[in-house]
Amino acid sequence: MAVLKQMKSASVDCVFADPPFNLGKDYRNGYHDKMSEFEYLRWCEGWITECCRILKPGGAIFLYATPELAIKFGSLLNDLATFRHWIAMTMKGTYSRGKKLYPAHYALLYYTRGQPKTFNRIRVPVPTCRHCGKEIKDYGGHRDKLNPLGLNLTDFWEDTSPNRHQKFKVRPGVNELKLVIPERAILISTDEEDVVFDPFGGGGATFQAAELNNRFWIGTELYDSKHIEQRFRERFPFSLGKKPEFAVSELFEHDEDHENALLRRGSREGMSARAR
Ligand SMILES: C[S@@+](CC[C@H](N)C(=O)[O-])C[C@H]1O[C@@H](n2cnc3c(N)ncnc32)[C@H](O)[C@@H]1O
Repeated sequence: MAVLKQMKSASVDCVFADPPFNLGKDYRNGYHDKMSEFEYLRWCEGWITECCRILKPGGAIFLYATPELAIKFGSLLNDLATFRHWIAMTMKGTYSRGKKLYPAHYALLYYTRGQPKTFNRIRVPVPTCRHCGKEIKDYGGHRDKLNPLGLNLTDFWEDTSPNRHQKFKVRPGVNELKLVIPERAILISTDEEDVVFDPFGGGGATFQAAELNNRFWIGTELYDSKHIEQRFRERFPFSLGKKPEFAVSELFEHDEDHENALLRRGSREGMSARAR
């Protein structure tokens, strides 16, 4: 929130947020993932409002959540932005709890600030059987009419499971998303050199997806960012440590009072604060 509040209104093109779900999960980084429901929703209202404020007109916000949370996030978002899609993503290997149906999807909410300024159609390969390699559907005899570039992406993503397998994770303990999830969101809603913001960096999937597709990116992670750095060290060794190619400071308010307050606090806290 400290970073978000310093960002200018209407300064980024896309927000992708995959927040902690308040399920008591151990993130192995000291994060306490269990507040009261009231406290959690009040906290969510704060960052969701700020994320919508920093979006440019027509910019997109994607929010990844369980259906139970998504319906609450949706009621907050409905006052701040325009609904586009509830994207359902198959979830495998779950179990039913209590008197409930077997949960089989996660939600990716997609809203824009007014009419979308960018909407790119994504095409996906025609699905085939992983055993025999043959196409699964017959398209009612109109297979030859299909676009050779593939099928139009729908709002039901059954070709990806939400989480990366443990052994491919950059950061143990964190529900790191498969790259394709933030990547599709970015490709749908932005053009090259647009700016993507992710408030919950985690293992850095959004940042990798943005970097791969020539989008500028910025984000926050409350705890360690060493896993994100590690990801970049392995995949983009030439970009790590370089100055960003866009004017990051342009995204922030230059509020002299605020800067002076920070300096005053720095001098009060002495050397250790300056070192930080
Ligand atoms: C579900 S993970 C995000 C995973 C990320 N999408 C990925 O694919 O790697 C949520 C992350 O939010 C971080 N987090 C929790 N509270 C935060 C806060 N107030 N500000 C920034 N990050 C926070 C947690 O440490 C955790 O790494």
